[in-house]
Amino acid sequence: MTTPEDRPVTRLFDAETIARRVDELAIAIAATLPSEFTLVGLLKGAFVFTADLVRALDRAGMRPRVEFLQVSSYGLGTESSGTVKVIGEMPSSIEGCPVLLVDDIQDTGRTLLFTRDLLLQHGAARVWTCALLDKPSRRVVDIQPDFVGFEIPDLFVVGYGIDWAERFRHLPWIGTVEG
Ligand code: IMP
Ligand code: MG
Repeated sequence: MTTPEDRPVTRLFDAETIARRVDELAIAIAATLPSEFTLVGLLKGAFVFTADLVRALDRAGMRPRVEFLQVSSYGLGTESSGTVKVIGEMPSSIEGCPVLLVDDIQDTGRTLLFTRDLLLQHGAARVWTCALLDKPSRRVVDIQPDFVGFEIPDLFVVGYGIDWAERFRHLPWIGTVEG
């Protein structure tokens, strides 16, 4: 059996590169969204990105409320299972609010599409989407994030909050797992 521990991780984006891009994203978001909005981060993968993004947004003059939502599309493997489900509570304070939905990676697009529609059904006034990483070649549903940090090819990546079977979330940088 192959475990995550067996695989070397090759660095793709170092911490400084990520930090610079997060600042640029915050400036782009500040130029587009109203200064008061609700940021909804998707757990667990976007927890590190969300923490850095809200502080970059503060530097850009924004005052987001912060909520988290946990949804699941992957089991413990590296392939999307094709269905998305909500785990836990919906944020209560989104009715009538502009929302920025934040995820770590946009892959097939199912998670962002499902979650955006869910937030609209729960009364969000408008939903913008932001993904730190985007794998456009993997898309199976029609959704393009409004804000993207980095486009990447079809690689399985870990670090900066992103896991493989719950490992590697702690890495301050993003790397690709070699097969
Ligand atoms: P989608 O619904 O297929 O777009 O998948 C999005 C979710 O799959 C992300 O929130 C990630 O949690 C997970 N995911 C997609 N690609 C990767 C990857 O390369 N490494 C780790 N998780 C990934
Ligand atoms: Mg995720």
